[in-house]
Amino acid sequence: MKKLKVGEMFAGVGGFRLGLENTENRMFEITWANQWEPSRRVQHAYDCYTHNFKTGIHSNQDITQVTNHELASTNVDMIVGGFPCQDYSVARSLSGELGIQGKKGVLFWEIARYIQNVAPKYILLENVDRLLKSPASQRGRDFAVMLSTLNELGYDIEWRVINAADYGNAQKRRRVFIFGYRKENHYAQSITKKSAEDIVFKEGFFAKAFPVTDEVYKDRIGTVTLSHDIVEISDNFSYTFHPSGFMRNGEIYTVHTVPQYEKPVTLGEILEEAVDDQYYLSDEKVEKFKYLRGAKKIERITKDGHKYTFSEGGMSETDALDSPARTMLTSESSINRSTHLIKDSKGYRTLTPVEAERLNGFPDNWTDTMAGKMRFFCMGNALVVPLITRMGNEIENIEMQYPDETTQLNLF
Ligand SMILES: C[S@@+](CC[C@H](N)C(=O)[O-])C[C@H]1O[C@@H](n2cnc3c(N)ncnc32)[C@H](O)[C@@H]1O
Repeated sequence: MKKLKVGEMFAGVGGFRLGLENTENRMFEITWANQWEPSRRVQHAYDCYTHNFKTGIHSNQDITQVTNHELASTNVDMIVGGFPCQDYSVARSLSGELGIQGKKGVLFWEIARYIQNVAPKYILLENVDRLLKSPASQRGRDFAVMLSTLNELGYDIEWRVINAADYGNAQKRRRVFIFGYRKENHYAQSITKKSAEDIVFKEGFFAKAFPVTDEVYKDRIGTVTLSHDIVEISDNFSYTFHPSGFMRNGEIYTVHTVPQYEKPVTLGEILEEAVDDQYYLSDEKVEKFKYLRGAKKIERITKDGHKYTFSEGGMSETDALDSPARTMLTSESSINRSTHLIKDSKGYRTLTPVEAERLNGFPDNWTDTMAGKMRFFCMGNALVVPLITRMGNEIENIEMQYPDETTQLNLF
């Protein structure tokens, strides 16, 4: 079977690769991966990646420094990557009416540059769900800039916010996934004969991989058309995108869908049996956790002397073992309100690195190339691997149905 060559951006410890390498037909071959942790001498994630994956080119360079020539020479069929939510505003560049300029250091532009250089058949991206609403002062602007850019680059786009726990996983981790395919592909031609509604609810990429009910949550449904002028979007666009959507030629349909829930794995089910003493907490630390997790009202004073009351509600004293875990953050190794607190027969403890890996569906000890703190950090950054396998399986279905053209056009 013909392989699909994949370029993995912001590869971290390889969640996308691991997921894609577990698909039914083993169609994906990750031939180029880039991972660079800014301002760190030791490259923990990259070292872990190269330890676990032996084939392909592994690049440990700031992506902004990777040349167009190197990107083009990867010649991949698909680009994947999980990238930060940043400020995607653009301005007209001083050099002329046609040029536009995004903010420096914004990594989405690196994805756009890679797409421009290889014109892959497919793109699959991941981000925090906040992307759909950012920035707070102009809701939806950043996502609209992104959609508009991908539209101009020649892609139809589907997106969906997926909570991993809704589809059988052990963690409530809500992320937006963005799938794009070239407009001239046979798949695109065929899918867009269907209505946007059919695509989102039944026939599209996400509907097939992550089925939803026929229901529209709280009547949240809408359409919007993007201007062709990206600066106009950046300056004026504001709209509330819903968790599911489809875009073709700047015409957007978006709706709040309801998952066909699958029984999740619980936190209790992924816990290790014999846990080392180092993960158990002293009474003092337990008290600190209790305080952090408790309800509180605190008087605070702003820099300019304004008094206000900071308040937050209480959380359960420890994490429930009979439901999926909460979202794991990069701060999981610190004493923090968001850090998981487990109570078992030996006492109170935090998660172990292996449990953190299990919550994301990584094999045990995937990250044991690095010290404990970094293992939690990398898992806080990573994605829930089985979700990617499901998406990979669906891409394989598309490929088998439309084993068409290679669409690699060299745009430079
Ligand atoms: C959200 S994480 C992606 C995690 C990955 N999907 C995984 O499963 O581990 C983003 C990654 O981008 C990397 N990164 C940040 N800035 C970068 C840059 N300028 N060039 C290359 N990689 C960068 C970070 O080190 C981090 O590992």
